[in-house]
Amino acid sequence: MSVTNFEFVSSSENQTQELAGRLAKHLVGGEIIQLVGDLGSGKTAFVKGLAAELGCLEDVTSPTFTVCNMYQGRLLVQHCDFYRMSGDALIEHELADMSGDDTVIVLEWAENLSVIDPEKTVLITIKPDAEDNRHFSFVIPSKYNYLQI
Ligand SMILES: Nc1ncnc2c1ncn2[C@@H]1O[C@H](COP(=O)(O)OP(=O)(O)OP(=O)(O)O)[C@@H](O)[C@H]1O
Ligand SMILES: [Mg+2]
Repeated sequence: MSVTNFEFVSSSENQTQELAGRLAKHLVGGEIIQLVGDLGSGKTAFVKGLAAELGCLEDVTSPTFTVCNMYQGRLLVQHCDFYRMSGDALIEHELADMSGDDTVIVLEWAENLSVIDPEKTVLITIKPDAEDNRHFSFVIPSKYNYLQI
């Protein structure tokens, strides 16, 4: 699998949202984005910036208790948090149901799911550094080679 890698350091929540916005400008719909990082690393902060750039007016909040939240902008953002979920079959159905040409699926806590296909998934790993610094690593499969940051 050929991939493109990008690395960035963000030193504030605002910078993280800006970074997400830069990626969001290139989204065309049909993408799956997986965010990997510890509790409080900034996954939801990233989704806030992504949704804002796409013109979603509603505030993005953590979907921990609802599993998935939807935000309509230039594209439909489906934001899911599988922290409390188990059972791949159910999730596989959920993901299949929500995918579409005008939809971007953004996942938190999906790393234990076998249904995630790395060739169809933008993988974003966030590692906290000193204080508010967050090290971002983007792995973009060739399917999404139009994506830039
Ligand atoms: N550089 C940064 N980028 C993002 N968030 C930051 C940064 N520096 C500090 N923060 C703070 O870290 C917290 C990140 O919270 P957020 O809900 O986005 O994390 P999360 O990874 O989604 O956690 P969870 O796994 O619980 O869903 C926020 O309180 C935010 O203000
Ligand atoms: Mg979160």
